[in-house]
Amino acid sequence: MEEKRELRIVRKTWETADTATFAFEPTDGRPLQYLPGQYVSLVFSTQTGEKRRAYSFSTCPGVDALPAVTVKRVVNGEFSNWLLRHAEPGDVLTATEPHGRFLLPPKRPDTIFYIAAGSGITPVISHLKALLAKPHSARIILYYANRDSQSTIFKPQIDQWIKDFPTRFRCLYFFSKEKKADNALHRHLNNQLLEELLSRHFADGIAAKQLRGTLFYLCAPQAMMRMAEMTLRTMNFPEKNIVKENFVAETRLPTRELDTTRTHLVVASNARERIEFKAFAGETILNAALRQGIPLPYTCKSGVCFTCLAKCTKGEVDVAFVDSVRREGPGDMVNTCIGYAATERVELWYE
Ligand SMILES: Cc1cc2nc3c(=O)[nH]c(=O)nc-3n(C[C@H](O)[C@H](O)[C@H](O)COP(=O)(O)OP(=O)(O)OC[C@H]3O[C@@H](n4cnc5c(N)ncnc54)[C@H](O)[C@@H]3O)c2cc1C
Ligand code: FES
Repeated sequence: MEEKRELRIVRKTWETADTATFAFEPTDGRPLQYLPGQYVSLVFSTQTGEKRRAYSFSTCPGVDALPAVTVKRVVNGEFSNWLLRHAEPGDVLTATEPHGRFLLPPKRPDTIFYIAAGSGITPVISHLKALLAKPHSARIILYYANRDSQSTIFKPQIDQWIKDFPTRFRCLYFFSKEKKADNALHRHLNNQLLEELLSRHFADGIAAKQLRGTLFYLCAPQAMMRMAEMTLRTMNFPEKNIVKENFVAETRLPTRELDTTRTHLVVASNARERIEFKAFAGETILNAALRQGIPLPYTCKSGVCFTCLAKCTKGEVDVAFVDSVRREGPGDMVNTCIGYAATERVELWYE
C-alpha cells in the first residue's frame, strides 16, 4: 500500500542558526513527484520501532532543480535535532512518497494571503515560488511572524521578492524582539491587528467579490491559526477559502477501550492491491493494520497531517478528533489513524 523511497542528501544549507535546508535526490534515479505545499515523511528506525516526521518541501517543481526540505530545531525534539546535528551530504534518508493537501487552487483567486510563523514558512515559500514564476498570477500578501530578522527563515529571498515584484507581492514581518526593521511591525499579530490590516487592505470595503476571491493559507502555531481563522470567519470570509497546515501532533486525543472479543473486517484497496484484515473494537484502523504488519500510509498518527487519509466506500467509520467524533460513511474521507470501524465491515480506497 505504501512505497518508501531512499533519498540521498546532496546539499545542507544553514538558513538561520537553528534551521537548515536539505536538498536531495532519490537513489533510484526516479524523480520525486510532488506539488508545492506538500511534504515528505522521513522514516527513522529506532530501538522502539519506526518513527516518522513530516517535512514540507521548501522547493517548487519546475523552479528548483532538486527537491528540498527545511528543518527548524524544536527544543528537545528528537529528530529535528538529529537531522541538524548529524545528517550530512552523502547520507541516505528513508522517506514516504509526498503527501499533503496544503495545495494551490487549480484556478488562481484575485488575492492570496499567507499567515506564517517560524518554520511554517516552508510550504508557503514553495507556493510563493510557484506563484511568482508565473507572470499573471494572484496578488500575494504574506504576514510572517518571528522573533527578529536573524531568526527569520528565507528573509533574504523574501526581501528580494519584495523588490522584484512590487505590485504583485507584499510582505509584512511581525517581530516580537526587534523594534526597527524594514517592512516590519514590532507587534504580535492578534485578532484586532489582523482585522485592522485586512480592512486597510480592502479600503473600498469587503464585498461579496472580495469574500469569494480571496484565499487564506495559514501555517503557524495552533493558537495563531485559531486566532486568524476566528478573525477571518467573523469578517465573513468563507471557511472553504481558509486552508491550514498544522505542524504539531495532537497529544490530547481520546482513546477507546480495546475489546479483543469483537472484531470488524476492514478491506483496504488501491489501484495495485487489496488487503483484508481484522480490527478489534476500540482499535484504530491504522493501528490494527500496523499490528499485523500491513503497511498502510501514516505520519503523525494524531489526525493532523492527512497522510493516512482514505475514502470510505462501504460501511461507516467513527473519526475521533480531540473535541468531537464524526461518523463518516460511503464517499467520505477518513483519517485512519484516529478512525474506528463502526460497522461490521468497512471498505477503504487509497489514492
Ligand atoms: C504536515 C507537516 C509538515 C511539517 N513540515 C515541517 C517543516 O517543513 N519544517 C519543520 O521544521 N517541521 C515541520 N513539521 C514538524 C516536524 O514533523 C516535527 O514535528 C518537528 O521537526 C519536531 O520533531 P522532533 O522529533 O524534533 O520533536 P519531537 O521529539 O517529536 O517533539 C518534542 C516536543 O516538541 C513539541 N513539538 C513538536 N513539533 C513542534 C513544532 N513544530 N513546534 C513546536 N513544538 C513542537 C512536541 O509536542 C514535543 O513536546 C511538519 C509537521 C507536519 C505534521
Ligand atoms: S497519520 Fe497524520 S492524520 Fe493520520
